[in-house]
Amino acid sequence: MSGPTAPTIVVFDSGLGGLSVLSPIAASLPQARLVYVADEAGFPYGGRSEQDLLARVGSVIGAAMDRFRPDLVVVACNTASTLVLPQLRARFTVPIVGTVPAIKPAAEQSQSRCFAILATEGTAKRDYTRALIDQFAKNCRVIIHSPPALAPRAEAFLRGEGLDGQALLADIAPCFVNENGSKTDTIVLGCTHYPLLLEAMKRLAPWPVTWIDPAPAIARRVAHLLGQTASAAQMRAGPNLFVSTGPVDLTAGLRHALQAYGLADEAIVHLELV
Ligand code: DGL
Repeated sequence: MSGPTAPTIVVFDSGLGGLSVLSPIAASLPQARLVYVADEAGFPYGGRSEQDLLARVGSVIGAAMDRFRPDLVVVACNTASTLVLPQLRARFTVPIVGTVPAIKPAAEQSQSRCFAILATEGTAKRDYTRALIDQFAKNCRVIIHSPPALAPRAEAFLRGEGLDGQALLADIAPCFVNENGSKTDTIVLGCTHYPLLLEAMKRLAPWPVTWIDPAPAIARRVAHLLGQTASAAQMRAGPNLFVSTGPVDLTAGLRHALQAYGLADEAIVHLELV
């Protein structure tokens, strides 16, 4: 006899970064069926034009909706969320949870009134991001920094390719200002790839700061929207999946990393775009 089924959640990103968001969702909703969708064929999103990105994300999410019929979608990508959420919400009826830079919490927490946003080029220049700064951080000194190699560096790290500490330090160093009475005390991780490098960034930081990763707040939002429906009494609708739009180069490092997220080799699936 089959009982009620637990919800299916699609967690989407340009690549592997959204795994940093998948993790707390899996921890808070262990019975939910998680379908992680990586647009590896379209990675990276950071330098894409807005028009191109709207079309690309629409086509990947459309294909994922048709194939997996999720109860909720998490756009675990700041570069996409700061642009495409209105379009997705107009097109689909299921709840769509976005990931946007945690500017409000940073402005509230910063004691020095000086914080940095580490984000892709796309997120940094969005009207959406500028509006959040105007609305919540008017009285703060805000440094926005977009190192183009940082998201690819996080992907490579997760694949087990090792990390160049000096290059990583050069990527984050402009976030650390200490001049004219302003000293950075908080850094917003405005791209879901960056938490994958958090331990290394903490080690390399010129001084300790508070790093804000929005993932736990997103997991709380997802659990709230699903009404905590994923209880142990429910049957999972199917196995968790890792779905990619491109070929997955399953290095030993990536295999190990995916296993840590509960995704074994047989969970890897190709998504055809229409
Ligand atoms: N992980 C994505 C984000 O949160 C973008 C990385 C990229 O594709 O450039 O912005």
